[in-house]
Amino acid sequence: MELYTTSLLFIVSFSTIIFLLFRRNSAFWRSINTPPGSTGLPLIGETFQIISAYKTENPEPFIDARVSKYGSVFTTHVFGERTVFSADVEINKFILQNEGRLFESSYPGSIANLVGKHSLLLMRGGLHRRMHSLTMSFANSTIIKDHLLADIDRLVRLNLDSWTGRILLMDEAKKITFELTLKQLLSIEPCEWSENLRKEYMLVIEGFFCIPLPFFSLTYRRAIQARKRVTEALHLVVRERRIEREKGVKKNDMLAALFDSDGDEENFYDDEIVDFLVSLLVAGYDTTSTTMTLAVKYLTDTPSALAQLKEEHDAIRAKKGASVALEWDDYKSMPFTQCVVNETLRLSNIISGVFRRAITDVKIKDYTIPKGAKVFTSLRAVHLDQDNFEDARVFNPWRWQVSNSLSI
Ligand SMILES: *[C@@H]1O[C@H](CO)[C@@H](O)[C@H](O)[C@H]1NC(C)=O
Ligand SMILES: *[C@@H]1O[C@H](CO)[C@@H](O)[C@H](O)[C@H]1NC(C)=O
Repeated sequence: MELYTTSLLFIVSFSTIIFLLFRRNSAFWRSINTPPGSTGLPLIGETFQIISAYKTENPEPFIDARVSKYGSVFTTHVFGERTVFSADVEINKFILQNEGRLFESSYPGSIANLVGKHSLLLMRGGLHRRMHSLTMSFANSTIIKDHLLADIDRLVRLNLDSWTGRILLMDEAKKITFELTLKQLLSIEPCEWSENLRKEYMLVIEGFFCIPLPFFSLTYRRAIQARKRVTEALHLVVRERRIEREKGVKKNDMLAALFDSDGDEENFYDDEIVDFLVSLLVAGYDTTSTTMTLAVKYLTDTPSALAQLKEEHDAIRAKKGASVALEWDDYKSMPFTQCVVNETLRLSNIISGVFRRAITDVKIKDYTIPKGAKVFTSLRAVHLDQDNFEDARVFNPWRWQVSNSLSI
């Protein structure tokens, strides 16, 4: 009986709070000219529609239907919050370029627990810009040009040589990606330690795709524990490397770049460095390996593209001999490969979009996005829009050979 009363009390107060919140929220949204749209049921909004759309073969119907009804910017209500969706190239660019000024990144708390509060995904303002420019300059540095391709060449060969009989491509792609990332970040070669770290990582990643309540979800609990072990292991590495560095040992990797940038402004703390490494490993692992796997699928489905790609590579290989590693110049002389890369990225859309939150009222075209509103810039919708790309849903690397007016 008592339990019954308590739970009744709980339900009543809970729904009152939600009702009040919801009403406040609605009044606030109605007061200015926000993008049109439907917000579905109270509380739940259109969350079921978006989830069921993503469970079909073609996940576009959710956005397609709304874009044709309301235009390329519309309001919906998903995952507990009103959200402005943008499927417009210019608006997406505007939102992403105003990171830290008009918009800030916004991810659910469950993700923060897994990637760490200092991760690039969650960082805001100055620190975000600093880490971001560091990542970009690292990606453009001579370190990458001189070592990355040689490392890719070597690690891919190593893995290919170990393949026997039937393999699962996605698993192999993940292994290669992880080994390569670890090499670039920390100069660590594939070994038992790295393979164990990768197993922990897989548990962390699983945590992204489950109900983020430790009490209900074993997967989430396991992910949190695995994350703890991962950060402990990385902390040890960072500490050892600091000691080595004081003794004058120099290495060419991301960690060294992080240490070196210490002089610029204030130092990065070990905690910040570790979270940063965790997020780069998370970011690289699933996205890169899935894209690699899809590239193979698209090429298999399009034999003429595969043949042309092989021809280009065979020509380079014939010039260099079988055992000489690829170099930056070789990579730069693969025009058709670049087209295949672009087309794969356009079509696969592993990152389907980015969540941001408006820091202030923002006027875009004829609408106002109210301060505090969540915004989703859909990259996928732009990539798959027939107005931007002819036969947008077909894999056609040759489209990149004629100069494309759109550059995203
Ligand atoms: C990359 O480096 C080159 C030369 O070092 C420079 O011209 C170019 O602007 C850089 N690109 C980026 C994106 O930083
Ligand atoms: C691939 O896409 C990038 C970014 O849009 C663009 O700068 C580059 O020119 C494209 N490459 C080719 C070969 O079209």
